[in-house]
Amino acid sequence: MVKLWRCLICGDPYIGENPPPNCPFCGAHREYIKEAKDLEVTYDVELTDKDKSNAEYALKVEVSNATFYFCAADETDDPEGRLLFKALAKVEAEHASIWKKILRLPEVPKGHETCFKENRKNLAESHAREERAIAFYKKAALESDNSRIKQIFEALVEIETDHLFLSEERLK
Ligand SMILES: [Fe+2]
Ligand SMILES: [Fe+2]
Repeated sequence: MVKLWRCLICGDPYIGENPPPNCPFCGAHREYIKEAKDLEVTYDVELTDKDKSNAEYALKVEVSNATFYFCAADETDDPEGRLLFKALAKVEAEHASIWKKILRLPEVPKGHETCFKENRKNLAESHAREERAIAFYKKAALESDNSRIKQIFEALVEIETDHLFLSEERLK
């Protein structure tokens, strides 16, 4: 029998017999996916100045990465690479929308990024972007005293670390 599941990180619902091992929208790990009826998900968080500036920076990072990946999904010269970058683009766009909700913005700002034709260059760029995101999210998680903000930053560290492996495997 199918059930309605929900991700605690991005808030999106999923229909399936079992919970997915990773949120299909934001990539959050299994522990964050619960039956929708049992879960309360809030983005209504009081932000300290530090949390606000970190959330604003996180939004910029995610918009930039999503834009880069959408570009690479169109331009990269490898069929599997196109699929990989499309998948990553959708996940990073979902991450941007988490920060949009936290910051109570009407919409996600537009990004301007370029990318490469050569798949290996896009993979190397992906790796560098994910490493920077992880370092920033780790620091931001430590800097927050707010349990919800900390939880989102920590979940994002896990997700972006998964993304790092995807480029590492292909750059071998
Ligand atoms: Fe992300
Ligand atoms: Fe990522």
